[in-house]
Amino acid sequence: MFAQRIDRLTSSLVRDILAAAQRPEVISFAGGLPADEALFRPDATALQALPDVWQYGQSEGEWGLRELVAQRVRALGLACTPEQVLILNGSQQGIDLVAKLMIERETPVLVEAPAYLAALQAFRLFGAECLPVAVDPLAGADLAQFEAQAARARLAYLTPTFQNPSGYCYSDAERDRVAATLDRHDAVLFEDDPYRDLSYEGPAPAPIAGRLHRARWVYQGSFSKTLSPGLRLGYLVAHPDLMPPLIRLKQAADLHSNRLSQHLVMQVLANGALDRHVASVLPLYRARRDAMDAALRRHLGGHASWACPWGGLFFWVRLAGALDTMALMREALQRDLALMPGEAFFQQAAGASYLRLNFSHAAPERIEAGIARLAELLREQLPEAA
Ligand SMILES: Cc1ncc(COP(=O)(O)O)c(C=O)c1O
Repeated sequence: MFAQRIDRLTSSLVRDILAAAQRPEVISFAGGLPADEALFRPDATALQALPDVWQYGQSEGEWGLRELVAQRVRALGLACTPEQVLILNGSQQGIDLVAKLMIERETPVLVEAPAYLAALQAFRLFGAECLPVAVDPLAGADLAQFEAQAARARLAYLTPTFQNPSGYCYSDAERDRVAATLDRHDAVLFEDDPYRDLSYEGPAPAPIAGRLHRARWVYQGSFSKTLSPGLRLGYLVAHPDLMPPLIRLKQAADLHSNRLSQHLVMQVLANGALDRHVASVLPLYRARRDAMDAALRRHLGGHASWACPWGGLFFWVRLAGALDTMALMREALQRDLALMPGEAFFQQAAGASYLRLNFSHAAPERIEAGIARLAELLREQLPEAA
């Protein structure tokens, strides 16, 4: 009855776990949710200042917002014009559009291992052959493997800045080497950058896309983590060759992005409120990150390894023993603790057991209680952790 690709459509584990984690008694480290108290909520004055947004708009997005986004992206060292900006209903839409543009059955797509779950889901739907490149918060990106896979890939999907799930941030030297490799081959770079502004130790290195000389690229960002996910607003900026088909794909998907959200975001970009909002949220997230790091050291030290991330929303914890983390997740949910099994982020089995733990959503005392509960569970499941 359905198209063949529907056989390749896996359920989004995040959605399933988030649904289960809705109960207030559940301590959730599962989603990539901003803290409720950090959400940007426009006040009545902001709403009253909106122009008339109720007619259909442009597929590319509101011109004023495209100009402001281009300005911000140029400040990151990526030369672009407003014509190269496409406003999206969430950056997840960029993944869908780029997948539609580039991927058919057996298209080789370079992905990080681990990689953002919902990107893997979209690439698989279109039939991609995923070519993994190992990324680890302690060991960095496996650049030798990157060079080998880039020679075959048509698309290289990377989240080099506070990666979801590993939290890893590529160094300047790694970014330069990745850019030089892509310039030597035909792969299009797809750089996904929603966490850049959530940096707790100073600015992150400039995007890889701005370091390319020859290769074509798509760079995307989001207002979900810095303002509110409910706005459903993100953007992509692309090499001029890719813009005409991307705009047509956007038009075919949904005509244009929500104009109400676009004008709200235009306002906060133009009056500096976005940067003030991010600056006011960083101390809260830094404190929660530090609370999780301390709780992990207190309860899991010696039985797991991790790097304290300097940005983003996640700890990527490698367990000392081999465990079925899907089963662990189900058992944890029984005890009102939600976490993300590492397996879900890999295209092929990783050979080690990992958990992704979000630190932004739970308050510090819940972080402490949740990690203590996790340690108890691990002591039962991993005899060597006793
Ligand atoms: C790496 C990455 N890309 C894209 C997204 C999608 O974000 P949004 O659609 O809210 O902009 C997320 C959300 O968690 C993400 O982690």
